[in-house]
Amino acid sequence: MKMLRILLVCLLVLSTVPADAASPTLKNGYTVKTTKLYWRAMQSSPVAKTLRTNVPVRYVPYNRSWSNVYIGSTRYFTPSVNLKAGIPKMTSSERLRLVNKQHGLPSTYRSPQLTTLTIPTVYQKGSEKTLMTAEAAYALAKLYYAGRKQGHTLYALSAYRSYSTQKSIYNYWVSARGTSYASKYVAIPGHSEHQTGLAVDMTSRRMRLGLYESFDQSPEGKWMLQNAHRYGFILRYPKGKERITGYNYEPWHLRYVGVKEATLMKQQNWTLEEWWRKR
Ligand code: DAL
Ligand code: ZN
Repeated sequence: MKMLRILLVCLLVLSTVPADAASPTLKNGYTVKTTKLYWRAMQSSPVAKTLRTNVPVRYVPYNRSWSNVYIGSTRYFTPSVNLKAGIPKMTSSERLRLVNKQHGLPSTYRSPQLTTLTIPTVYQKGSEKTLMTAEAAYALAKLYYAGRKQGHTLYALSAYRSYSTQKSIYNYWVSARGTSYASKYVAIPGHSEHQTGLAVDMTSRRMRLGLYESFDQSPEGKWMLQNAHRYGFILRYPKGKERITGYNYEPWHLRYVGVKEATLMKQQNWTLEEWWRKR
């Protein structure tokens, strides 16, 4: 009887995981033990199946209470409470990793936890710039929905950037504006926080989906700068701290560090460099 149950469970798993489950994005999936799946959010009866075994899935918030669950390329929905425990957590040293002009990353570094953002993005989903580590992506969705509730719609422009993407961006700005300008705004490849999967540049329609200092005067930008710490984000390159961070003021660049440390840094008016020195 027990053997039969195990066999049935195996068959169920095999039939719910399409052949493309081994695609690069899904290798980064993680495991949920029991999940009721629905075809649409807010539905009252589950689709078809309740998975009662460990199945690698990828999931991302859909709205405040529901999440998308991807099994292979098939999308289901489930109440987020079913999933919370399954988000792969980072260690605090990963969450607080210092990447700046002095501290770099190996050129091949890529977090295994990258997942596609669910909030509106300027680049099409599928672009690496719409990826962030799962914990940061989940936190960014919370920030986004909190903003929406107050009437502010934020967009993510550039989140994850690989070494080679950073290299192209840096080379572009060097040829367009010279090394001195480029070094104030763009990290050399291997030294960008965007490569950690924990940083994201935010914008809004009012900013024509671009990056401008005046974002801090817009309703969306003002709200974001006042509230980002509640969701675990710091403004990484604040005004007046250019000598410490090595970069000009960037009111759009958020860095995920977790709620506790983001709140502390906000209260103390510390950059990440200062946090590392003073903690
Ligand atoms: N704009 C920041 C410094 C970067 O390129 O990572
Ligand atoms: Zn940035």
